[in-house]
Amino acid sequence: MTTIDSTLFTAAEAIRAKAYAPYSNFHVGAAILADDGNIYSGCNIENAAYPQGNCAETSAISAMIAGGARRIKRIYVTGPGTAPVTPCGGCRQRIREFADLDVEVISHGVDGVALVQTLGQLLPYSFGPEFLGK
Ligand code: THU
Repeated sequence: MTTIDSTLFTAAEAIRAKAYAPYSNFHVGAAILADDGNIYSGCNIENAAYPQGNCAETSAISAMIAGGARRIKRIYVTGPGTAPVTPCGGCRQRIREFADLDVEVISHGVDGVALVQTLGQLLPYSFGPEFLGK
């Protein structure tokens, strides 16, 4: 694990402890290294009206934007169990809005081994801001 991965893992685990997930009991944390050099983190926030819940990655992106940063340089996701907790389809697209395709996404089930993939691997042939001239 690199120093930055270790730092991101620590941040993701710290926020994971604050997850609000009474329905799934699946607590997830995400930490972003942003282009301003800061780390922004978020946890999943569930809701009794299930579809209104937020994933950890979405919360971390919200923190990044609120903090004034715009680009994701690296993102770490942690959750329970041994299988790597990979971002859901919707979160892959949300990450796509703010990250280049070669950005590394680290998925980790805390009792297992972390998996490192690029965003391009997780979301091939994707639609992004450049299609709209942005
Ligand atoms: N979840 C995340 O927050 N991120 C992921 O990458 C996978 C799933 C959350 C959503 C929901 O609160 C719970 O995990 C179970 O799906």
